Amino acid sequence: MIQPAMKLTVFAATGGIGRQVLEQAIAAGHEVTAVVRNPEKLPPGVRAVAADLAAPDPAALESAVKGADAVISGLGPRSASEAGVAWQGTRAIVQAMKTAGVRRIVVVSAAPIGTVPSPGRPNPPKRDPGDGFFMRTLFSPLIRAVLRKHYADLARMEDVLRESGLDWTVVRPPRLTDKSATGTYRVAYGQNLRRGFFISRADVAHFMLRVLGQPETLQRTIGIAD
Ligand SMILES: NC(=O)c1ccc[n+]([C@@H]2O[C@H](COP(=O)([O-])OP(=O)(O)OC[C@H]3O[C@@H](n4cnc5c(N)ncnc54)[C@H](OP(=O)(O)O)[C@@H]3O)[C@@H](O)[C@H]2O)c1
Repeated sequence: MIQPAMKLTVFAATGGIGRQVLEQAIAAGHEVTAVVRNPEKLPPGVRAVAADLAAPDPAALESAVKGADAVISGLGPRSASEAGVAWQGTRAIVQAMKTAGVRRIVVVSAAPIGTVPSPGRPNPPKRDPGDGFFMRTLFSPLIRAVLRKHYADLARMEDVLRESGLDWTVVRPPRLTDKSATGTYRVAYGQNLRRGFFISRADVAHFMLRVLGQPETLQRTIGIAD
């Protein structure tokens, strides 16, 4: 489906998914503002706003989102020591959007988060209906232990959106790869996908842009996989 050109603000546009969102959005003819902590890492000619989302300046974020039709965020902690940046940074983004009167936001979370407790969702389901035997019994608990802080951060980020009153969509990918975009991935509302172990960053970005034209994705968490 061809979408009309939009004004988009892309947070974390120098990350794996963020850079894909940026490139695909520009290629599709959208007008993009990139919010990053290191603008020198951006390709030339991109309108950039510098912001460290671990210590955000509300005025800078407000000017970055002002006039946008939608916000897309690829924000996530690069290491365990940075865990906390996803929910605190997203809280700052949401506040800036409310001040600037912008309603639409799409963010990236992770496949296991549907079963991760958070302050806003202390008793999530014990298993995701999309997860098969392998994910439930071995793979997921192992990864969950290693990435405990990271997942707690993402679960809390999802709380921030659920409580925001904005038009949000949360995309929950499994293991990310650097393969090219295919545009032919599977998605499922409110759950993961059976045998959905991988998805490319390029296809996650493709979907994050695609949902902007899909009102049925508002206030939804969506699983995605190859
Ligand atoms: N890796 C996986 O297999 C996997 C699977 C499922 C879900 N996820 C989730 O998906 C997210 C995105 O994946 P990815 O591969 O695109 O991650 P990534 O390349 O690590 O990108 C994370 C982005 O967040 C930005 N960021 C981190 N702290 C920041 C801060 N204080 N201020 C401003 N920006 C900050 C980074 O900025 P810089 O570019 O300046 O560092 C980077 O742009 C991950 O963070 C994770 O939560 C990952």
